Amino acid sequence: MDPTAQVSPLHEMAPEAPFHSKGSVYIESYGCQMNFSDSEIVASVMQEQGFHISQEASQADIVFLNTCAIRDNAEQRVRARLRELKSLKKSKPNLVVGMLGCMAERLREQLLDQEKLVDVVAGPDAYRDLPRLVDQALDGHRGMNVLLSLEETYADVSPVRLTGNGVSAFITIMRGCDNMCTFCVVPFTRGRERSRNPDTILEECRQLWDQGYKEVTLLGQNVDSYLWFGGGPKKEFHRLTAEEKAQALDFAGLLKKVAEAFPGLRIRFTTSHPRDFTDNVLKTMALYPNICPYIHLPVQSGSTRILQRMNRGYSREWYLERIQAIRKYLPHAAISTDIIAGFCSETEEDHQLTLSLMEEVAFDSAYMFKYSERPGTPAAKKFEDDVPEEVKNRRLQEIIDLQRRLSLQSHQRDVGHTFQVLVEGPSRRSPDQFCGRTPQNKMVVFPWKAGIKAGQVLSVRIVDCTSATLMGAFI
Ligand code: 5AD
Ligand code: SF4
Repeated sequence: MDPTAQVSPLHEMAPEAPFHSKGSVYIESYGCQMNFSDSEIVASVMQEQGFHISQEASQADIVFLNTCAIRDNAEQRVRARLRELKSLKKSKPNLVVGMLGCMAERLREQLLDQEKLVDVVAGPDAYRDLPRLVDQALDGHRGMNVLLSLEETYADVSPVRLTGNGVSAFITIMRGCDNMCTFCVVPFTRGRERSRNPDTILEECRQLWDQGYKEVTLLGQNVDSYLWFGGGPKKEFHRLTAEEKAQALDFAGLLKKVAEAFPGLRIRFTTSHPRDFTDNVLKTMALYPNICPYIHLPVQSGSTRILQRMNRGYSREWYLERIQAIRKYLPHAAISTDIIAGFCSETEEDHQLTLSLMEEVAFDSAYMFKYSERPGTPAAKKFEDDVPEEVKNRRLQEIIDLQRRLSLQSHQRDVGHTFQVLVEGPSRRSPDQFCGRTPQNKMVVFPWKAGIKAGQVLSVRIVDCTSATLMGAFI
């Protein structure tokens, strides 16, 4: 999951205003893919209740910021944007500003009551309540719902596809997280883990396929612990009743169902957890050519001592063994990861262990972060954030420099080989080039040719590369 904070003016496929619209809504999303996906649920809920989706914040009656709390800089960006919107309200007093997503729970009192920056606050499980909260705000009363649910999966909500290329879409298969990594705010902002009814997942795939989509990414904070047994809060398999066991479906089972039902659809998933990532999933991936050989397996640190403090539930050796299993079942798979530099008490030796693990695995790509203490997390309560800022910066830079070299090497290994590339559309950099992805999720840029359309799968030979992109030619 790309966790870097970014602003997305959701517009490309936004529907037209209906004749009797109750007002226009503009949604701006920050944070991970799950948040972007949630914004599509919000759009659907609002549209169902007579609102329409606007392409411009300046023209909207309601502006929602779907926020991220994972690192302090993500929060700072949202705060700055909220202050901007507050000044916009001077010239537009009826504007309703809503804060959704992961900051809602933590900052509701401050932003709603003290600073009066927002009119509506809704947490990730309260989106069905948004039309009511907005109506209330339009009547001049601030509205808030940050209740977390044990059951909400929005299974019956058909997301309005707001961004994207019409080729590739995200499908949420589970919500929440029970892992309790000590650094992470997600279990507090998104609540307990629960899995979505597989029939509704298959139905969403079918709708996408009918609309011409060619790729889906199954989304969850920890997809490997997906377990459907008829609904309700998560339970361990051994605690299921006989009736629940009879209909139980785990993540490998779900992958198999989707892959078999839609053999023409490329299937991806994210995010996996090294502790829960099973050989069964690898065997299923090996069996179905439409499941892409790409695995995002966040390691966070190469030091077992630090992994323990992070409560990750695995050691360096365990992680390397999982990598070996991937290489055994899927020799052509690409592997990416997440790494945190400068977690509490990290020594130079721990840092060197992270660098050596990166070399040993030879990750194809990585998302790399500096540790940012989040109030209320176990790490904030138990440990001191004691690695000085300049040391964190230096370690992060070393990690980034190493990954740049590893990414370049990974791309260089592809030069001379041919890949089946799913065309996504014109390249952003140059209008006479197109871009698309290999099954391994690597971006390829190739020259425009008459008749090429987004959604086609083409054989492209890799002729050159940088650390970020592959350059291709037709054979
Ligand atoms: N500080 C820095 N990075 C974090 N992540 C999660 N919490 C923090 C934090 N407090 C990173 C992890 C996770 C990714 C989504 O964000 O690497 O896998
Ligand atoms: Fe996503 Fe985590 Fe940010 Fe929430 S806090 S938006 S789950 S990255």
